[in-house]
Amino acid sequence: METVYLNGQYLSKDDAFISPDDRGFLFGDSIYEVTRWYGGYFFDLPGHADRFRRSLKETRIEWDDADKFEQISLDLIHRNDLGSECAIVYFQVTRGVAPRNHAFPDPPVKPTVYGYARRHSINTLACERGVNMWLTPDPRWNRCDIKSTALLANVMPYQEAHDRGCAEVCFVREGLVTEGAHSNIFFVKNDAIHTHPESNYILSGITRSNILSAARENGISVIEEAVPADMLSYMHEAFFANTTGEIVPVLKIGDQVIGSGTPGPVTKNIQRLFRDKIEAANPIR
Ligand code: PDD
Repeated sequence: METVYLNGQYLSKDDAFISPDDRGFLFGDSIYEVTRWYGGYFFDLPGHADRFRRSLKETRIEWDDADKFEQISLDLIHRNDLGSECAIVYFQVTRGVAPRNHAFPDPPVKPTVYGYARRHSINTLACERGVNMWLTPDPRWNRCDIKSTALLANVMPYQEAHDRGCAEVCFVREGLVTEGAHSNIFFVKNDAIHTHPESNYILSGITRSNILSAARENGISVIEEAVPADMLSYMHEAFFANTTGEIVPVLKIGDQVIGSGTPGPVTKNIQRLFRDKIEAANPIR
């Protein structure tokens, strides 16, 4: 039986119901967070908790128990017997239930808070062998820094990529690579890592910030500048990264083969350094 969290209660998923008047359902008026459990501990839970609270603040969704994010995440793992497994916790907060009206409910209503934990392992084949990306214009709004569940503009290009046998989208806005449909993108040129700076055009990935700190701590240069899409042929390596998939080498973007078309040495080194960081986060080493 899958146990979920809904509005202060732990219950069987079969007994969890959400109103059709929920603003998350009607408007995508809602934010979410995804964290990863490594068979005994979360990786950078404080980083995820900070971003979760920031998303609430930026959207003016008020959840009085936001400080319970960490405890509920842990409870979901244990209540689903996932303590020694690799798993993810998904957490979503909507502005709540009210008759459809673009204005926020007045007086405010309680938010809808939903969370689940699910077994999830890494796609090791993709991490070892690499994958292709689909190059496409970034159709999203200009608040990509908010982890909103309104993801139609991510889902549609992602499906287009999927239909073409690609594992992820490479979004381009005004000639510059921004990020993927559900990941941040990195390039390697002359042994330096290039990636889009934090801004309203990308989600500030927790994996991204850990990759960049691991790189800097190990003497690898990091250049937080967007890469022009017409410079892809000059890039030596590419990879994308997120909580669910970790670090995936990229062999080709659109029609452009990246570097030698195989996972490159800097990417492999970053994968190792990131693994070390995950191991180092284990409290019972
Ligand atoms: N997505 N950019 C976008 C648009 C994302 O949706 C994500 C994560 C990232 C990477 O963030 P992080 O490293 O904190 O996971 C970047 C999650 C995994 C999802 O939607 O399932």
